[in-house]
Amino acid sequence: MLSMKAPPVHLQGPPHPNCLGTPPHPDHHPSHHPVRSWSVAQRQSFSSGSAEKPMPGNSMLGHLTSKIKATGPISVAEYMREVLTNPVMGYYVQNDMLGPDGDFITSPEISQIFGELLGIWCLSEWMGAGKPSRFQLVEFGPGRGSLANDILRVFSQLRGALGGAAVSVHLVEVSPKLSQVQAQCLTGDQSQVSASEDEPVYRQGTTTTGLPISWYRNLDDVPRGFSIYLAHEFFDALPIHKFQGTEKGWREVMVDIDPDEPGKLRLVIVPAPTLASTQLIQADEKRRHVEVCPEGGVIVQLLANRIAEDGGAALIADYGHDGTKTDTFRGFKGHKLHDVLASPGSADLTADVDYSYLRRMAGATVACMGPVSQKDFLKNMGIDTRLQVLLRNCADPSTRAQLIQGYDMLTNPLKMGERFQFFTMLNHSRLTRPEPEQSKGGKKMAPVPKKGPAPLPVAGFSELGLS
Ligand SMILES: C[S@@+](CC[C@H](N)C(=O)[O-])C[C@H]1O[C@@H](n2cnc3c(N)ncnc32)[C@H](O)[C@@H]1O
Repeated sequence: MLSMKAPPVHLQGPPHPNCLGTPPHPDHHPSHHPVRSWSVAQRQSFSSGSAEKPMPGNSMLGHLTSKIKATGPISVAEYMREVLTNPVMGYYVQNDMLGPDGDFITSPEISQIFGELLGIWCLSEWMGAGKPSRFQLVEFGPGRGSLANDILRVFSQLRGALGGAAVSVHLVEVSPKLSQVQAQCLTGDQSQVSASEDEPVYRQGTTTTGLPISWYRNLDDVPRGFSIYLAHEFFDALPIHKFQGTEKGWREVMVDIDPDEPGKLRLVIVPAPTLASTQLIQADEKRRHVEVCPEGGVIVQLLANRIAEDGGAALIADYGHDGTKTDTFRGFKGHKLHDVLASPGSADLTADVDYSYLRRMAGATVACMGPVSQKDFLKNMGIDTRLQVLLRNCADPSTRAQLIQGYDMLTNPLKMGERFQFFTMLNHSRLTRPEPEQSKGGKKMAPVPKKGPAPLPVAGFSELGLS
């Protein structure tokens, strides 16, 4: 089992200028928080794990124990779903976990260069798709809105490159609390909440850069059309099932009440197969412990269908692996690893994304690339050149130190450089030369050169090439 813990981020001094020469991003606070990483405190034994004493009045624990008393042990997926997104008590529903008093730090909060490079990626894919006249930027789980804000600043700076394209912004966010933080960051006070809770669009407004922006709970509600989909540290928050290989075959790991201490929860291996353990494990699986995220699989299938039918691309960036890791389920609270079963609802829960599973779920509907490490992705996107430009234009020693520390945190293989990975799904036409048209309805068409222009390389997955 991996037991690495990323060192704390020590970004100090004022927010730094960005690579486009625009003023510093007001939301990029200096931070002293560790990034999320593999748990050193994970349970060694699934049947004997125990959690610390519950906090008095932990209503999430009461809710979960009532559920278990009524129906028996619950799957880890159900536990995660309840703990993170229960509409009343869920961790994401109630918290702004990314703030200075939050539980962890993410790349867009570490350095705005990150969001700016992703903005360039979006533009590059829009260009690679032939510059369609309508362009939806869709982000899943936008957190505090920092990534979208940095991307929109790039769009605004490079307005000329976007020509007259009608750009709109669409955010898929389950947390009303975070949607408020996002709205403040992206629109100032230019957003309104829908009159009815049942509306698919629950908030709408205009960004500070003048674009229409809408909030949804589900991808199904986002309008169809050419879209660039971004998911940064989103898939790792989706519920996973956990399975253990035993002498009798695959068995599901579930959450139960500890019979010795009824105020505590424990993980157990259930004796009989469950629907999930019979359906979700590959016949040729070699690992002895496996985590599967079917909700992530469904979202990827929906995205693949949309990309195939409407055009566009998805970029998924997360802690992840390519079907090699086993037990990655971990908790974070106050910037420290936290027992996944202790004080449920008070800490973040996360599991590494299995990109081999996502690729399998996407199938042949789209072209998939990656995963590539964050280090390689950002270097291909030109982070070194950008850092040099910024340093050349910056005399303030503390801002310079902050730029270098942010770069190191994002790219150092011992920090986020290797463990954080990028994966993309593209419309197949994106990677092929346009086909010469033969004839339509028996009518001869104008001759088209046999060889069309070569497609643009996919930025990040090979070196950036814009034209
Ligand atoms: C770990 S945070 C990442 C925030 C941001 N992307 C970043 O990197 O800073 C996860 C985000 O996904 C949202 N989220 C979690 N589960 C969700 C779900 N099932 N549907 C929609 N949003 C969800 C959370 O509210 C939060 O905004």
